[in-house]
Amino acid sequence: MTRITIDRNRSAGTISRYIYGHFAEHLGRCIYGGIFVGKDSDIPNVNGMRTDVVEAMKALNMPVLRWPGGCFADEYHWRDGIGPLESRKRMVNTNWGGVTEDNSFGTHEFLELCRQVGCEPYITGNVGSGTVQEMSEWIEYLNSDGDSTVVRERRKNGRQDSWGVRFWGVGNESWGCGGMMRPEYYSDEYRRYQTFCRQYGDRKLYKIACGPSDANVEWTEVLMKNAAACMDGLSMHYYTIPGGWDNKNSALDFTRDDYWETVYRAEDIERILMLHAKVMDRYDPKKRVGLIIDEWGTWFKVEPDTNPGFLYQQNTMRDAMVAAVSLDIFNRHCDRVFMANIAQTVNVLQAIILTEGDRMVLTPTYHVFDLYKGHMDGKELDCFVETGKLGNDEYKMDGVSASASEKDGRITLTLTNLNPEAGEEVTVALREEAIFGAEGRILTGKMGEYNDFGNAKLAVKEFTDFAFRDGKLIVRMPACSVTEIRL
Ligand code: AHR
Repeated sequence: MTRITIDRNRSAGTISRYIYGHFAEHLGRCIYGGIFVGKDSDIPNVNGMRTDVVEAMKALNMPVLRWPGGCFADEYHWRDGIGPLESRKRMVNTNWGGVTEDNSFGTHEFLELCRQVGCEPYITGNVGSGTVQEMSEWIEYLNSDGDSTVVRERRKNGRQDSWGVRFWGVGNESWGCGGMMRPEYYSDEYRRYQTFCRQYGDRKLYKIACGPSDANVEWTEVLMKNAAACMDGLSMHYYTIPGGWDNKNSALDFTRDDYWETVYRAEDIERILMLHAKVMDRYDPKKRVGLIIDEWGTWFKVEPDTNPGFLYQQNTMRDAMVAAVSLDIFNRHCDRVFMANIAQTVNVLQAIILTEGDRMVLTPTYHVFDLYKGHMDGKELDCFVETGKLGNDEYKMDGVSASASEKDGRITLTLTNLNPEAGEEVTVALREEAIFGAEGRILTGKMGEYNDFGNAKLAVKEFTDFAFRDGKLIVRMPACSVTEIRL
């Protein structure tokens, strides 16, 4: 039995829509095959973008998409991806599987994808192996309407008006694949690069510095101390890797103990983001600088007989639980977390969409984003959850996780029952008010269930298993379920 009290007078602030962001890298079959098939493909497409995938992305009201990496960003030279297709440079993607990258998906294609999806672009520039001039001219190419050689080049390539790209990342994982820099060195480089990330037009460029991985607070400390004044956002990466790097879980073949470890590790992001937020608070008490969790999600073993460099994994109800508890945490910390981008959109890591040739399936993680989309731009409402503990001797956690927000006079409540075996009765009260009407949707299944090609049984369904008693809402949640209730 769980009790939840929602207080409309207590709020961490507005839940930025960008918390529901996504990430697509030139990695495995994310871009090529997953999103982009080229104009001549037999797979239905518009200007080379798969129609089925674009429609699915659109249906989530996807707010922002990060590109081109990841590690790939610090080896990517944007000029290789513009101009006539036949003269684009070929390279070997040394980070991911050693495959040939023909650069047929470049700047124009990415922005065409964002146009079709209706999302904002977030581009990460190359610090690791690029130059200040290269980054500066990329922004000029994207955002300037002045009469310069760079702008003329864009026009020659078919785009008259600037795109007005707002979100700009200055390097990726500069402490690792982005150049193995020390924080002191990177913070100086950041200051130099961002100086030449010029402002064009009215749309203020939102500059994002490379932040820490996991609990590396020293990185955050040095960056905030040396460069907070010239950044708008600081990124952070956190992956849920049960078993650890050397002994990763299989995405499909896992035990109940693996399940507990996975959810526990996913929830640990709250402790870690609070460590960084505490450091940020010291240098930025007004919380002007956003924490940008631009890579998060599960990382399992690749599926058997797939290229180990392609990071292809299936996605079960366990992933759905990870998505739900993570989004709850980001919602709760919306006073500091401005954006989050799950890794990655199609066919890579905790994907929301999987494809095989011309077939596509939506994963349980996709459905969680669907259930949560009502929180975007809502006022976060304090949710006091009184629930029992679940888990095993090593990993213990709350049995129910929740988020509430208010927008246009309606409250969106999302509830997650993490118990893989038993249902849970949840009593929801609104402090000092009665609840008298609700509509519900649900995703539920066994913890190891997943959607396979030709057999996609997990989907969002209407949910009506609730009642009203003494002004309270009584919800009977099935085991392993995520519910959206609109009050
Ligand atoms: O998402 C896969 C990789 O994980 C990204 O390229 C990199 O930034 C991170 O280490």
